[in-house]
Amino acid sequence: MANFDKSKAYAPQEQETAFFDDGREIELLHFIYSHPDLDRIRGSPKNVLAAIDEYGRTKKYLMNVGEDKGRIVTDLIAEVKPQTMVELGGYVGYSCLLFGHALLASSGPSAIYYSLERNPEFAAVITSLVDLAGLSSTVKVVVGSSDESLHRLHASGSLTKIDLMFLDHYKPAYTTDLKLCEELGLVTIGSVLAADNVIKPGNPPYLEYVRSSVQEKRAKAGEKGEGGGKAKGIPEKNVKMYEKRFGEARFSQSKGNPNLVYESRLVNSFEPTGVPDGVEITRCVSEEK
Ligand SMILES: C[S@@+](CC[C@H](N)C(=O)[O-])C[C@H]1O[C@@H](n2cnc3c(N)ncnc32)[C@H](O)[C@@H]1O
Repeated sequence: MANFDKSKAYAPQEQETAFFDDGREIELLHFIYSHPDLDRIRGSPKNVLAAIDEYGRTKKYLMNVGEDKGRIVTDLIAEVKPQTMVELGGYVGYSCLLFGHALLASSGPSAIYYSLERNPEFAAVITSLVDLAGLSSTVKVVVGSSDESLHRLHASGSLTKIDLMFLDHYKPAYTTDLKLCEELGLVTIGSVLAADNVIKPGNPPYLEYVRSSVQEKRAKAGEKGEGGGKAKGIPEKNVKMYEKRFGEARFSQSKGNPNLVYESRLVNSFEPTGVPDGVEITRCVSEEK
């Protein structure tokens, strides 16, 4: 994996074209379960990841976090040693396998990785591959819209604090879900956030929020209309694609906790297609009263 050639990472005819949900996710399962090396793949998160990469390289594009940006988050896991990690948007489980494996290695068998995925077919693919990789006791796949799942996990007492959260779902929901986590006390002092795709396709409302001072957030929290959906500055193509698949998006209306102080910085990186992107790393360092 060290000499990975990005230009060969994904089927070239489909680079830049975020096709999904045309049956390729189930086709991926058939590809892996009929793989000549299945015995080597079974029980090995690394080999399951390599098989997903092989499918993406030789068959069809898959919208996975990929190796470059993945390393930013696995380094963060090694540093933070989270006991509870949450990802918003699991797709076929690439990030879940990569980060779930890193979590087990850094934090031990008591650590839990929640993968929140709205599409039940994608969630079933994740569950199957997590089982194949032998990570079922670390990873919990939660089916449903992220805001509803966060509410449910909190209400059941399963989730009380998020040590590390990977945001990789519907771009306008990054800010609204973060505010919901703040309001529920899930994101608090010590929590760390890693937000993907803040350059490609971009997420100006999220970057503005996590880079704002407490005073700026307090002033905005009082404004009329705050707390609603925020697609401003996010490419329309991205918003339309989501609405076509899921219908009109619903957003948490939470006002969050503007008193939380964040330190935030961009780490530049690349999409698996070779396109420049970045991951925003945000640490909640204190709370102003
Ligand atoms: C870019 S893909 C995630 C890729 C995955 N994190 C990886 O790197 O392997 C985005 C996923 O978010 C899911 N999604 C979109 N909106 C969501 C929501 N509100 N709640 C949960 N999942 C959502 C989509 O169904 C899709 O599978």
